[in-house]
Amino acid sequence: MRSTVGQLASASMGAGPRSRTQPAGVWDAWLRERADLRAERGTVRHDPVLRGRPSGQGVLDLASNDYLGLSRHPAVLDAAHEALDRWGAGATASRLVTGTLPVHRTLEERLVRLTGQAAALAFSTGYAANLGTLTALTGRGAQILLDAHAHASLHDAARMSRVPYATFDHNDPGALDSALRQRSGSRVVVAVESVYSVLGDAAPLRDLLDVCHRHQALLVVDEAHGLGVAGHGRGLVHELGLVGARDLVVTLTLSKSLGAQGGAVLGPPAVRDHLVNTARSFIFDTGLAPAAAAAAAAASLLVADDPSLAARVRSNARTVATVCGIEQAAGAVQSLPMPSPSAAVTAAAALCERGVLVGCFRPPSVPDGVSRLRVTARADLAPEEVLGAATLVASEATKHRDGRAG
Ligand SMILES: Cc1ncc(COP(=O)(O)O)c(C=O)c1O
Repeated sequence: MRSTVGQLASASMGAGPRSRTQPAGVWDAWLRERADLRAERGTVRHDPVLRGRPSGQGVLDLASNDYLGLSRHPAVLDAAHEALDRWGAGATASRLVTGTLPVHRTLEERLVRLTGQAAALAFSTGYAANLGTLTALTGRGAQILLDAHAHASLHDAARMSRVPYATFDHNDPGALDSALRQRSGSRVVVAVESVYSVLGDAAPLRDLLDVCHRHQALLVVDEAHGLGVAGHGRGLVHELGLVGARDLVVTLTLSKSLGAQGGAVLGPPAVRDHLVNTARSFIFDTGLAPAAAAAAAAASLLVADDPSLAARVRSNARTVATVCGIEQAAGAVQSLPMPSPSAAVTAAAALCERGVLVGCFRPPSVPDGVSRLRVTARADLAPEEVLGAATLVASEATKHRDGRAG
């Protein structure tokens, strides 16, 4: 086995002639088989290099997660530059060693102010925040229930918690109730998103929390796609008046509406304290880079002070939904169902040729197996830009849905 891995490494790293004459090993064959399978299913993924930011170069970016357009806001960039100059490129250690800097405290205070929650703890990514939360809040005697459409990071976190976990029907408080009834006697953590990124629907958080309270379960709400858009930018938990509710913890990514990078967990100080002491993805991870922390802190301030940002997302989302003939989703992302992965890929490529970048969701990244064009209605786009782009999206989607392309 060891020699086979060595063979693979030397082949891929362009080693000398000896490796070229060796027969393909089991790992090479396995990788080829997996690649062939992806090609056959139309699920090949790429990580294309974007040479410069698309906006302003005749290309309209409706693909990114920069919902409020804050990633290049002057106040955000100034804060990042200043932190970079003052604190350097990295946090240089984990948060518990020497990696907690004043920018991390500022970020946590601003997130508290923005969301209304009692305490915040910054992580290096939203993925790490979910991982830390579910693993640290479970342990012996606990179980996890996930909404069937929950993000991959929550599924991975459930797996890594090493406790029994299951899913319940998407956005269905009745299904959650019966799943919790079957687990009476266990300490159960329930994890959902506030706004789902693929279908764009909002969770019935109040009903879900009522069910959790009936069973003394803890509800973890991932506001990755709710923050900045719902609740005048303060998130869906805030909009529904659930801030400070018992047994409720919120997780965030700083990489979407806040235009930066990183993650956070918000809730009671006791939860923050517990995570500082037990969340392995916090303890054994280098602190969030100072420039990213400062950028997210500046963006949090902008979102808190300017509710019109969220209003502009909603208004642009309405335009996209109306022009494309779909129901308006709760968040910034509007999704157009396509008949097949290849139709979605071809339509997205055709739109790119015409200067409009849209996302393309295909299995296995969709919860229901339906491929979609993913259109982000950013706050910083002018209404006429959105109208023009949405018209192109609608026409390409129709063409490729009907098989009229080519
Ligand atoms: C719902 C949800 N949770 C968590 C994450 C992970 O966040 P990050 O990219 O900061 O790791 C994402 C990002 O794609 C997400 O969509």
